[in-house]
Amino acid sequence: VEFPSFADRLVQWQLAHGRHSLPWQGTRDPYVIWISEVMLQQTQVNTVIPYFERFMATFPNVAALAAASVEAVLALWSGLGYYSRGRNLHRTACILQTQYDGKFPKDAASLQQLPGIGRSTAAAIAVFAVGERVAILDGNVKRILARYFGIGTYPSEKKTEQHLWELAEDLLPSTQDHQVLTAYTQGLMDLGALVCTRAQPHCQRCPLQVDCKAYRDNLTATLPAAKPK
Ligand code: ADE
Repeated sequence: VEFPSFADRLVQWQLAHGRHSLPWQGTRDPYVIWISEVMLQQTQVNTVIPYFERFMATFPNVAALAAASVEAVLALWSGLGYYSRGRNLHRTACILQTQYDGKFPKDAASLQQLPGIGRSTAAAIAVFAVGERVAILDGNVKRILARYFGIGTYPSEKKTEQHLWELAEDLLPSTQDHQVLTAYTQGLMDLGALVCTRAQPHCQRCPLQVDCKAYRDNLTATLPAAKPK
């Protein structure tokens, strides 16, 4: 038998210790996933939850969101910050309604063309909604990979970011199984939020500890590297 891979360890950990009851989990509805992923781009889970619940109750689908005024959308966004996210949600709903028959494109590359949907958000939607085998790379994943591989350069610098995208793609589970790809992707988000935290990470609870460079070399406090001045 072989060693469990990075993906194997993360998937098993997610199934046993990850989050399974967040309000946007357990659905494959791309609308629900899209709204949650955009809210979660710059905002913590606990802050997002009540906004997400109100938003869904008021705008339950693309048609309802497209039919609303942008003012009505921004009124529900009030307090979440980064208001361009709310404007882009409305713009994208209008585009989907008028150009896509109210439906979402089914792959990450097409999703990424829509306003407010970057590469990582497009990938998250494509994984959770249709089980596409595609990598995410948000701030949490950058931190996990910078520590795991012992990368000492600033993760959002262009060359380092490109390298991190390549690593993120190489680490994907080799399967096309929707449930495995979902557990893997959610596992990265959960590990970053619950274990591989920015300050005082919980390395004793980490499924990747055995081959983490930052753990081995006592560098969790200095990785990922801060933005150079
Ligand atoms: N952060 C970004 N996407 C998330 C998700 N689906 N669940 C929890 N945290 C997230």
